[in-house]
Amino acid sequence: MPKPRVAILISGRGSNMEALIRAAREADYPAEVALVISNKEDAAGLEIARGLGVEALAVPARPFGRDREAHERAIDAALVERNIAIVCLAGYMRLLTPYLVKRWAGRMLNIHPSLLPAYPGVDTHARVLAAGEAAHGCTVHLVTEEMDAGPVLAQARVAVLPGDSEQVLAARVLVQEHRLYPEALAALARKIRLPEAGA
Ligand code: GAR
Repeated sequence: MPKPRVAILISGRGSNMEALIRAAREADYPAEVALVISNKEDAAGLEIARGLGVEALAVPARPFGRDREAHERAIDAALVERNIAIVCLAGYMRLLTPYLVKRWAGRMLNIHPSLLPAYPGVDTHARVLAAGEAAHGCTVHLVTEEMDAGPVLAQARVAVLPGDSEQVLAARVLVQEHRLYPEALAALARKIRLPEAGA
């Protein structure tokens, strides 16, 4: 049975991307990572992906000026050309337009470093510390038009410990992100129906 082909969208270091690529190398993993796209040409994750044998492209937004949808059309064309079935956002730090969200509805995942619906947006670890929370974590969810919202597929929780700095807390959450995202992608991949060959 062919496995669904996955693309990962990144903007930076790509540690979640790397966790997904490494998990998908296992013979019994139900999806194949076929493509990485970054909106930043200098994203460290691009070289990491290539080093792991995955095609990696930069699709910068600059040539499209203010036309965000045109940028997304270029990304979408690359996804369709490579027969991608599922898109994983992994530190893709650009708001999507309704165009791309609708195109990939039900087949686009995101990982966010908080227990959504708490703490959408940026600087989650600092805000969790400032609020004196006892628990924090990460969420994998389906992408909808609202930022860091959409049906939750999986969550992992960590304790906030006395004396935690932002960096220490972020690192504790990141360990869970690297475990949770491959699990959540596998669960979705098992449910995706691929078109029959030749259809
Ligand atoms: C991760 O912590 C991810 O959860 C977060 O960006 C980081 C990317 O790191 N995403 C968001 O904040 C999305 N709202 P990585 O490039 O090493 O995977």
